[in-house]
Parts: sequence; structure tokens; C-alpha cells
Amino acid sequence: MKVLVTGGAGFIGSHVVEELIAHGVETSVVDNLSTPGGAGRLHAAAAFYHADLLGSGLREAFIRERPECVIHLAAQIDVQTSLRRPDYDADVNIVGTIRLLQLCAEFGVRKIVYASSAAVYGAPSYLAIDEHHPLRPLSFYGISKMAPELYIQTFSAIYGMTYTILRYANVYGPRQSASGEAGVVAIFADRLLHGETPVVYGNGEQTRDFICVKDVAAANYLAIGRGDGEIVNIGCNRQTSVNQLALLLSMSMGRPVQPVYRTKRSGDIVHSRLHNGKAKRVLGFEPKWNLLEGLRLTVAHYKETIHDKMDIIPLERRVVGSHET
Ligand SMILES: NC(=O)c1ccc[n+]([C@@H]2O[C@H](COP(=O)([O-])OP(=O)(O)OC[C@H]3O[C@@H](n4cnc5c(N)ncnc54)[C@H](O)[C@@H]3O)[C@@H](O)[C@H]2O)c1
Repeated sequence: MKVLVTGGAGFIGSHVVEELIAHGVETSVVDNLSTPGGAGRLHAAAAFYHADLLGSGLREAFIRERPECVIHLAAQIDVQTSLRRPDYDADVNIVGTIRLLQLCAEFGVRKIVYASSAAVYGAPSYLAIDEHHPLRPLSFYGISKMAPELYIQTFSAIYGMTYTILRYANVYGPRQSASGEAGVVAIFADRLLHGETPVVYGNGEQTRDFICVKDVAAANYLAIGRGDGEIVNIGCNRQTSVNQLALLLSMSMGRPVQPVYRTKRSGDIVHSRLHNGKAKRVLGFEPKWNLLEGLRLTVAHYKETIHDKMDIIPLERRVVGSHET
């Protein structure tokens, strides 16, 4: 089985690649390395194409790899960027996906697995959010994650390739970048490790469904062979408040810290939790990492990377395809 992973140098993508390689899948990666630290997240056993979804290098990857399955994670992931530059956000997330789908159709790809997001649901009308919940995105990012779902379904209907759309909850874990508007776990961990106090917007009682990136990677692997033509939530079906998260995280670092509180940000969703019954049924998916274990793993990673950045393999040893800038 040959699988091409777009965004395979990213936080989630690098774990997906690791999971595929551990299962003996022949894996290649397309990434433009726009997310900081990408070169350090590349896997030595995966062919790497330094290419943009919107550039010519993407076709080269298809010509050389002829993948049977494409796992599509490459995206502009920052909500604030989407609000400032909706045109750029749509170019990468919507037009970039269309370009990918055109190549999938041309090269006879059997299946596409797409990384969608709970952001497509917007403010929940009920909890737990199941896959029938109305789609009412609150940001351009939410729209640009939702539109590709429709393109994928329509490409599938016209060209016969199949798909699984995975809607992720809040993903955390090792290798998540703490820069920009990254996940709250990465930002809190980074501040705590640098002796700073975590900042909470609002009263901290807002809840999220946190899922460990290792579980998300496992779901992607399962989706290669199962869940054809399905849209599936990938979450733990658990709510954890930001206050609880800050406490757990600081305890797992051995020094409980009281966060500082700032004014609630407009547009922030109060509570979120994804129903995962369908994922269990159609993918055989079961989250294995509870939050405390997942946070311990994450903290261990951040401690290691702070103290030891020696294990990064030079990029030039792994590049196969073109070098776009
Ligand atoms: N992190 C989360 O909590 C979360 C939640 C829901 C959905 N998702 C989705 O999961 C996917 C991966 O997210 P992540 O958190 O790993 O982000 P990330 O930024 O770490 O990974 C995205 C990768 O895509 C690459 N990329 C961006 N634009 C590209 C382009 N034009 N061409 C080629 N490569 C490009 C980046 O360099 C990066 O390596 C995204 O599609 C995101 O929308 C993430």
C-alpha cells in the first residue's frame, strides 16, 4: 500500500506518518514547511517532496509516487489568520484541496482521508456533537475546512474515488508548535517550562474535548481501510475545562501554578464535546490515551526538545522532490 500524506511535516501529520511506517505502509510526504519546525518533524523512512499544494511540485509527487491513498492534512490552521486574510485561507484550504483532488482523479487514487475539524459545527446546539449536528462555522477557517468536505464528496461521486472525512476535536501532544495560535496545551506547556504563568481568556470554565495526537494518528491509519464514504468525529467524548487542563498540566510538571485571567475573547465557543460512537462503529476506533497520560507524554517531549535538539536529521538528506519556496 502506498500512501501520500500532505502536511506530513506538521504536528499531526508527523504522527500519522510515524503510525503508517510502524504498520509497514510505504509512505511519502508533501509539505511546504510553512509551519515552524517542520524539517525536524520529517521521518527518515518517508520520501519527502518539498512542495506547495498550489505549486507544480505536487504533480511531481504524484508522478513519482502513484499513491493509492492520500491523507490530506496540509492546511492553513490559524483562525486569526483566516479572519485577517480570508482569501489566503481559502486559497490554501479550499483551492489547495481542489488541486489535490484533481490530481487524485487524474492518477486514479482509490481513497482520500481528509482532516476536517470540529470548527465546521460552530457553536453547538447540543452536546455531545454528533455527525448530524448542523454545520454553522463561526470563522473563515471553519468555512475553509467545511467546503473541502463538499468538494471531496462531489469528486467522489463524479470520479469514483472513495473517502473518509475525519472531524477532529482539540488535538494535543508531542511536536505541537507553541507559536501562533496553536493548541492551548502547547501554549500552556511552553509557558510553564519557561517559568511563565499560563494565561486563560474568560473564567476558564469553558470546556473542550482534548484528544491525544497518537489516537488521531491511529484513526487515520484505520481510515485507510475502513469507513468508506463516511464522515466521522474523532474525539474522546469528554469535556475538560481550561482550568482543569492548566491544573493537570502544571501538576504533571511537578509545580501547580495558578493561571492569570484575561477578558474572554469574542467568538470563543463555551463548551464542546464530540460524540465518537460512529468512529467506534465504522472505524473500530477507541481512544487509548487518557488526558493525564497524554499530558505526561507531551510534557516529556517539551522537556526533551528544550534540552536536546540534537536528533534532527538534516533536511537535505531526506528531500526527494522539488524545492519550491
Ligand atoms: N491541531 C488541531 O487541534 C486540529 C483540529 C482539527 C483539525 N485539524 C486539522 O489537522 C490538519 C493538521 O493540523 P496540525 O495541527 O498538524 O497543523 P500543522 O500546521 O502542524 O500542520 C500543517 C502542515 O501543512 C503544511 N502546509 C501548510 N500549507 C501548505 C501548503 N500550501 N502546501 C503544502 N503544505 C502546507 C505545513 O507546513 C504543516 O507542516 C489541518 O488540516 C488542520 O486543519 C487540526
